[in-house]
Amino acid sequence: MALEAYMLDWAQMLVRWLHLITGIAWIGSSFYFVWLDNHLEVPPKDPNPRVYGEIWSVHGGGFYHNRKFLQGPGWIPEKLHWFKYEAYFTWMSGMGLLALLYWAGASTFMVDPAVLPLEPWQAVAIGFGVLVGGWLLYEGLCRTELVKSGMDFAVIGFALLALITFGLTQVFGGRAAFIHIGAMIGTCMVGNVFFTIIPGQKKMVAAIAEGREPDPIWGQRGKQRSVHNNYLTLPVLFIMISNHYPMTYSGKWNWAVLLVITLAAMLIRHFFNLKHKGVIKPALPLAGAALFALLAVFLYPRPQAASGPAIVIPPEKVTFANVQDVINNRCVSCHAATPSRGNFVTAPAGIKLEDPADIKRWAGRIHEQAVVRRAMPQGNVTGITEEERALLGAWYAAGAPGK
Ligand code: HEC
Repeated sequence: MALEAYMLDWAQMLVRWLHLITGIAWIGSSFYFVWLDNHLEVPPKDPNPRVYGEIWSVHGGGFYHNRKFLQGPGWIPEKLHWFKYEAYFTWMSGMGLLALLYWAGASTFMVDPAVLPLEPWQAVAIGFGVLVGGWLLYEGLCRTELVKSGMDFAVIGFALLALITFGLTQVFGGRAAFIHIGAMIGTCMVGNVFFTIIPGQKKMVAAIAEGREPDPIWGQRGKQRSVHNNYLTLPVLFIMISNHYPMTYSGKWNWAVLLVITLAAMLIRHFFNLKHKGVIKPALPLAGAALFALLAVFLYPRPQAASGPAIVIPPEKVTFANVQDVINNRCVSCHAATPSRGNFVTAPAGIKLEDPADIKRWAGRIHEQAVVRRAMPQGNVTGITEEERALLGAWYAAGAPGK
């Protein structure tokens, strides 16, 4: 069993690493091409009438000269480079990570009995269903007239995202809800590459090879989907790091927090897209910054508000022995040198709480996680009570005494 958990840890580490590398390659090349498109010199100095725009750049000790042919150069180069495996491998490694971490550990990482006491298999089924359902919904929406207006699509798309986000935070723990929203958006983005952009490019190449003019509809559809991906990139990247920040995913309003951050990220992205075209709209990043500032104020910890009527612990009960009992019962099954719960090989986040000295050392973070954020015990799998949380709070407020 311990060996199994150990192997799982290795698998997770390697797949996470792969996911990061392929993700950087995908998003990096996508950022690069968006940048390229937005900085083309149109009309070009190049005398070839098929050239739509050109750009000179210098990087890594050499000069580069890119030219864009909207309908191709009229022939097919012998060596034509495609950009697709970055996206496919990002998705596959992401799915692998989701399965290894969240689905295999559903009882710890997905189910939060305080939200909804699901069986682990039910949680996995819902998680899987959201990925497939969300993607089908998005594809369906892309086939309506709506897709012709970027703004209408953004408004309706955002409203649907809001519904799904709210729904998912009512069934999963916040952390798993966030990650599944991210995986759902990522699936739509990779779906765009696999089902629309690449097939369109193949049709284009085939037409040129046969000496026909390619149907511009393929280029247009590919462009629409690229634009969608462009706006979704920043929110997905945020969701990938969100699991480090319980303040974003652990509260009752976590769904609203995710939506506000998504909106702020899209406004900032929009600013840069316009700026590339020479349109400067400072109101956009200012609005984004204002949203973050509002969130910061809104999320400022107010422990009493979260736990309802204040529970007062009589001072004589605020002893280290009582605190240690709580920690032993509610935390040590995970936070031990050799955890007995979940698929942990070593203490999660490197925090061991078996020794009194460690409990005292981590008093601040224990208070932060178990009292203020209520992110621990994870999914409250060990069933900590409100009195016990209040005791930890009172202990910390009294200066975390060791007696
Ligand atoms: C089911 C297993 C489990 C239980 C029970 C549990 N934790 Fe955790 N804890 C975790 C995991 C997993 C992480 C790492 C979270 C992450 O990766 O962000 C963690 C992280 C932490 C951290 C570090 C977070 C940070 O960034 O500061 C603290 C502090 C903590 N736990 C305290 C507690 C306390 C106090 C209890 C008991 C009241 C508790 N935990 C119970 C699994 C558990």
